[in-house]
Amino acid sequence: MDRDTAQPDVDAFPGPNGRKWVEFHGANAAPSEYSHEFVWDITREADGPFVTDVDGNVLLDFTCHIGAAPLGYQNEKITAKLREFDLVEPMKIAGQDLYFGAGPTPEESAVPGSSHLMEKLTDVSSQYGMDTVFLSNSGAEAVENAMKITHDYRAPSKYGITFDDSFHGRTLGTLSLTKSKEVYTRHYPEISGIETMPFCADRGCTADTCDCGFFAGGGSQLRNSLSPEGGHINPDEIAFLTLEPIQGVGGYRFPSQEFMQEVADVTDEYDIPLVVDEIQSGVGRTGEIWAADHYPIEPDVIASAKALRVGATISRSEIFPSEKNRLGSTFGGGDLLGSMMGTFTLEAIQEHDLLANATRRGTQATELLREDTPDYVEDVRGKGLMLAVEFDTPDRRAAVVAEALDRGLLTLGCGKKTIRLLPPLDSTEREIELGVSIFLEAVDAVGASAKAA
Ligand SMILES: Cc1ncc(COP(=O)(O)O)c(C=O)c1O
Repeated sequence: MDRDTAQPDVDAFPGPNGRKWVEFHGANAAPSEYSHEFVWDITREADGPFVTDVDGNVLLDFTCHIGAAPLGYQNEKITAKLREFDLVEPMKIAGQDLYFGAGPTPEESAVPGSSHLMEKLTDVSSQYGMDTVFLSNSGAEAVENAMKITHDYRAPSKYGITFDDSFHGRTLGTLSLTKSKEVYTRHYPEISGIETMPFCADRGCTADTCDCGFFAGGGSQLRNSLSPEGGHINPDEIAFLTLEPIQGVGGYRFPSQEFMQEVADVTDEYDIPLVVDEIQSGVGRTGEIWAADHYPIEPDVIASAKALRVGATISRSEIFPSEKNRLGSTFGGGDLLGSMMGTFTLEAIQEHDLLANATRRGTQATELLREDTPDYVEDVRGKGLMLAVEFDTPDRRAAVVAEALDRGLLTLGCGKKTIRLLPPLDSTEREIELGVSIFLEAVDAVGASAKAA
């Protein structure tokens, strides 16, 4: 398959083999969050955003596995580097308990490992003075460790601040910060002291125009809650304030500069560690390495995962506890392949100028998506290739996802009535044009049908 000429080609979706795989999988798997009955056939042709399923359907994947496969499938930018690596056993190692290298010295290493990944991560986070990393296995662990280190740094502290509609993971600790769907949290015990603030729902929001409830009472709810006169939270007892610079699961919500400025001012004023969750928005997705780079904020801790292939909590050395054994994880960053792919991904972003590409292709996509959209498209928004189209109703959104799939385009819902589009960071002009034209056909088809009425 050649991505320069490939086209989506769908016979029936899901096909008979897809159904068999889903049934086989479901026989033993706990119900979870499978978004489509798309079954990738890892033995068949794929290139960049194009992928073949177990029925031979060729699909254009604008989900990038929710950002966890940032360059799509079989991407030569990664596979060429991986070919240099002969598999070793054990490949999954106790990497937080034992060191490893691929040659006599780090400089002569045949391939990069977790030490190189941490070096790269501090390079791309040096604008925030960050020089230290703790590697883990997942996004939730990256956030959990951010909670732990900031609790230590600010000890004794008893509060943490989160925002409405946020998603920070599904471990019990991170669920206490997750305020999106109720199904994630119902009946589970919460850690104490978590205070929730309104998240900015309007990217043009100012103190004068705000109707999300953040700016209120002549200041902001955040500022007022910490005020010595009338506030109910002692700022000295706050371990962290955490936010997604752009909310993912909550609906690809882009906050206003003024909202971010207020968050920055308040956290600065009281020295509250600002933890940004970049698990969905980071590693180049928005046209900057971190979405935080678009805003007037100075994070103290960055939590990353997904596109990085491992979890990472990145910060300044003084924020991490110095005591041995205070942090740990058997496999954290010790999956040789995960660390290597994370490093190769960061290298590919630099070597192929993919931040600029994401910005260019994102602008192309939003311009095309905004052309002649019908009334029931309420908003088209994006930064880089973190793109969203919001509809008037959840049913309309679901119908568009289904119509797009029938035409061979994989998309994903988020929030209540929004579709998110995450094309690969190295998408070409042709791929964006193709994907958007299929998407707009699906939008038209839904408008013409009774499905969403
Ligand atoms: C913003 C954000 N934070 C945290 C997580 C949790 O990551 P993981 O599923 O790797 O634990 C996710 C996953 O979707 C996410 O989008």
